[in-house]
Amino acid sequence: MAETGKDITKAKAFLEKEQLVAIPTETVYGLAANAVNPVAVAKIFEAKDRPTFDPLIVHTHSLNEVLKITKDIHPSLLKLAKAFWPGPLTLLLPKKEIVPNLVTSGLDRVGVRIPNHPLTLQLLSQIDFPLAAPSANPFGYISPTTAEHVQKQLGLKIPYILDGGNCEVGLESTIVGEENGEIIVYRLGGLSIDAIESIVGKVSVQLNQSSNPKAPGQLKSHYAPKKPVYIGDINDLQNIHSDKKIGAIVFGNDNILKATTVVKNLSVAKNYQEAATNLFSFLRELDEADVDVIIAELLPEQGLGLAINDRLRRSSVI
Ligand code: TXA
Ligand code: MG
Repeated sequence: MAETGKDITKAKAFLEKEQLVAIPTETVYGLAANAVNPVAVAKIFEAKDRPTFDPLIVHTHSLNEVLKITKDIHPSLLKLAKAFWPGPLTLLLPKKEIVPNLVTSGLDRVGVRIPNHPLTLQLLSQIDFPLAAPSANPFGYISPTTAEHVQKQLGLKIPYILDGGNCEVGLESTIVGEENGEIIVYRLGGLSIDAIESIVGKVSVQLNQSSNPKAPGQLKSHYAPKKPVYIGDINDLQNIHSDKKIGAIVFGNDNILKATTVVKNLSVAKNYQEAATNLFSFLRELDEADVDVIIAELLPEQGLGLAINDRLRRSSVI
């Protein structure tokens, strides 16, 4: 089992020895290693069973640190950085030589972000290298939003989990970049499109859905529990699966459900942020509950509802 605690000095010591440490962020927990040390970075891919064509996000604690590993930041992206960092925003920026190809899967851009979590910001300011960190889950499974989630799945593979409590945002960062002067959103996430457009105007959303994506990691089937997830009208789905034990994820109204269905209500008050925070925990709980199938309804396609629906859809592809 991994040791769990709030000891930054200990986390620092492991990272300096090329070891992996799980770190809390406001989005999800990350599986961190020294981003400029390929030996350390390789351990991330091994622990996660992650294909090396899927690049990693690099975390720092200041814009100054970001400038050490990137170059030629487009003015609109700089505006976004200033508006939303620290926060759930990842920028794809032209990388400097110092960033190993293993981190970017050989691409010219590196994904970077400044996470908004006090413990991790403190840790980052005490080490003299940035941290590469994908979500701390086995490849393809649901991202962890508590230290316990990490312990359950990666506890045997890493020495230390820095425990920062429950992740407040609960969805991974929104990934944004620029091509030919156009600002592009590649992954929906914890920062809404509306918020981004309020700073840089209209953006283009290009989510990669294929199984061999240009922006790797945007695989169609991802964030998936082991049990099958079906999406649609909750009443219809209950009827279709009436011969099975059902777990249901709903948003708001749940009085339509049968007594035997195990119900997880993302937000009784229909609050999108609350729903985002609960989503991954609920998927895990239903995956572990005594049910055969998971059924879910989509949220209205607005604000964080877009990102939540994206995760639900990806979790449902078999
Ligand atoms: O909120 C988050 O972003 C969390 C926390 C830990 O920071 N991290 C996270 O990492 O979600 P991960 O590895 O699960 O997702 C990273 C994804 C990749 O799968 C890929 O889609 C995209 O980010 N990405 C990273 N670097 C990229 C690059 N250079 N070019 C294109 N896409 C990139
Ligand atoms: Mg991930």
